[in-house]
Amino acid sequence: MNKNAAKVLAELREDHRNMALMINLLERESNRIYEGLEPDYELLHDVMHYMTVYPDAVHHPKEDRLYAELKAFRPDLSTGFERITMDHRHIADLSIKLRDDIASINAGNPVRRNAVVADALRYVNTLRGHMQWEELDLFRRVDEMIRSGHNVFDSANFIHEADPVFGPEVEENFGRLVETIREEAAAG
Ligand SMILES: [Fe+2]
Ligand SMILES: [Fe+2]
Repeated sequence: MNKNAAKVLAELREDHRNMALMINLLERESNRIYEGLEPDYELLHDVMHYMTVYPDAVHHPKEDRLYAELKAFRPDLSTGFERITMDHRHIADLSIKLRDDIASINAGNPVRRNAVVADALRYVNTLRGHMQWEELDLFRRVDEMIRSGHNVFDSANFIHEADPVFGPEVEENFGRLVETIREEAAAG
């Protein structure tokens, strides 16, 4: 089976738009914690659940596969790539840490509020910086590879799973998260 790189890249860019929405929700709720207000812990839980089951588990491996293709076909466009896999691993570690903080609070355990805020901000800033690097640099290199004629790659080892929140079917657990996103969009 073959994959179309331009199509995969369009999906990755769409994922980034969705991830940016999630990051904004996280930032808003963590600011509430910082200000001593009560955040929506259920929402925080749902957002972090999503981040671990889609961006970490599907989006980043898809990118890794596409970057490997770039490295194989256009090594001239692949300088500075060593960081990328480490970055993905680091982001996954940060998201697990934050997800566990929130799960612990939801289970009734005392977790220091400023520790949660620090973990949330570290995650938000790292992921934002990472996505910006990809959008302004790595994705453009893939565009260049496609323009130069390499658009089809072998899809063996390619993880393709539908997005459980923004995909064609919303997974049951994510009903409330989708509801919140719709309300936010309607409120402008
Ligand atoms: Fe990435
Ligand atoms: Fe990405």
